[in-house]
Amino acid sequence: MSELKEILFSEEEISREVKNLGKRISGDYAGKNPLLIGVLKGSFIFLSDLARAIDFPCEIDFIMAKSYGMSRESSGVVRIVKDVDADITGREVIIVEDILESANTLFSVCEVLKARNPKSLKVCVFLDKKIKRKIPFNADYRCFEAEDKFLVGYGLDYAEKYRNLPYVMTIDS
Ligand code: IMP
Ligand code: MG
Repeated sequence: MSELKEILFSEEEISREVKNLGKRISGDYAGKNPLLIGVLKGSFIFLSDLARAIDFPCEIDFIMAKSYGMSRESSGVVRIVKDVDADITGREVIIVEDILESANTLFSVCEVLKARNPKSLKVCVFLDKKIKRKIPFNADYRCFEAEDKFLVGYGLDYAEKYRNLPYVMTIDS
């Protein structure tokens, strides 16, 4: 029997929310040429849909962060394993991530990027599991708030599987 349980966010709901978010960002950044930085690997599907819902030419880059430890929960120690190519000094930057949970990952990524003096730095997440926060941290943009369940699909993995599901599902854990 499959470990996948039920669909939490359907393709249609996701497409609607991502398009709405793209419109909001298009309005907020009109004429500003922001750099979208996707956090690998989980953001790759969200970022590709979001970028196509944004109506100005935007630059795209990637960063990869790893937290130590093998458990499903991220540890507090985060290390950048692939850095952005772009010089972000003086740039308007939007970090794009699949899910914000404890905030360990995004907090550390933001600290690293802030030290390079971007003009602005905002955070855009597909899912926000507020209930699991360990440090105070708010996303500037988000598609959905999620309950405390382990989720897969639309970029989110369980042991590197299920990123390619076009919807978000809960999984037996
Ligand atoms: P944080 O550092 O605890 O905020 O966790 C963020 C990272 O943990 C995300 O980038 C995901 O890679 C991973 N993560 C957190 N919750 C889930 C989940 O429900 N499914 C899959 N990955 C998750
Ligand atoms: Mg991730």
